[in-house]
Amino acid sequence: MRKSRTVVVVGASRGLGLALAEEYCARNWHVIATSRGRSAGLDQLRERYPTSLEIETVDIADGASIRALARRLETVSLDALFVNAGICKANTLTPLEVDDKDFLDMMSTNALGPMRIVEALYDRVPERGVIAVMSSELGSIAHCTGFWELYSSSKAALNMLMKAFSARHADASRSLLLIAPGWVRTEMGGEDAALETGESIPLVVDVVEQSAGVPGLRFVNRHGEILPW
Ligand SMILES: NC(=O)c1ccc[n+]([C@@H]2O[C@H](COP(=O)([O-])OP(=O)(O)OC[C@H]3O[C@@H](n4cnc5c(N)ncnc54)[C@H](OP(=O)(O)O)[C@@H]3O)[C@@H](O)[C@H]2O)c1
Repeated sequence: MRKSRTVVVVGASRGLGLALAEEYCARNWHVIATSRGRSAGLDQLRERYPTSLEIETVDIADGASIRALARRLETVSLDALFVNAGICKANTLTPLEVDDKDFLDMMSTNALGPMRIVEALYDRVPERGVIAVMSSELGSIAHCTGFWELYSSSKAALNMLMKAFSARHADASRSLLLIAPGWVRTEMGGEDAALETGESIPLVVDVVEQSAGVPGLRFVNRHGEILPW
């Protein structure tokens, strides 16, 4: 029987991250799902998948917390690393209106933090492995309409940092993905969102699975279609 593959899902306490952890468990992966604190959703998932699911802790806005996670995972080999965590604050405000802290929190959690996780866990992912980071259609500068401009700028910054990372690792053969899941009903996406998690996340995981062994960086949607930077 084939040895099960291992994925770390960062930011899996609820919403899309919890749905990712559930989807990987259902596909027989060994799943290391992280949260910042206790997550009822992850506790329930562990009752359903006691041998497949491990729960870890990390706050991606805290460098020491990221380094500690990397030390705890020092001996683990990851077929996939999926950095999902993100926040949206003051989405309708303009640069003049926003509280400095809200903007900086978004930059820290949506751009710097994910890339610190990628850097810290990069060596845990073998050459045919996949490193995926949850971006957004709103991170595309080419498609910008001004909607949620501050949040969008943090995802554009994430995309730029991932592009710079891939340039620094041009000789490596890992697959690097920035994935846009679509507009999905979660705490962040809100009630009016177009999709249920079940209409997005299985497609997102398909894209990650199909990317194993495909080197280089792509910015894609849940269907695997290339998005403009
Ligand atoms: N929903 C959408 O329509 C949509 C569309 C495009 C992109 N996205 C992106 O998809 C990802 C997930 O969004 P979502 O809709 O599921 O949002 P959500 O329901 O608000 O969940 C956000 C997740 O990120 C975690 N998180 C936030 N700050 C963190 C930190 N400092 N360290 C570790 N974990 C942290 C949260 O953990 P806690 O429970 O501890 O707060 C939670 O698990 C985000 O990157 C978001 O930008 C969402």
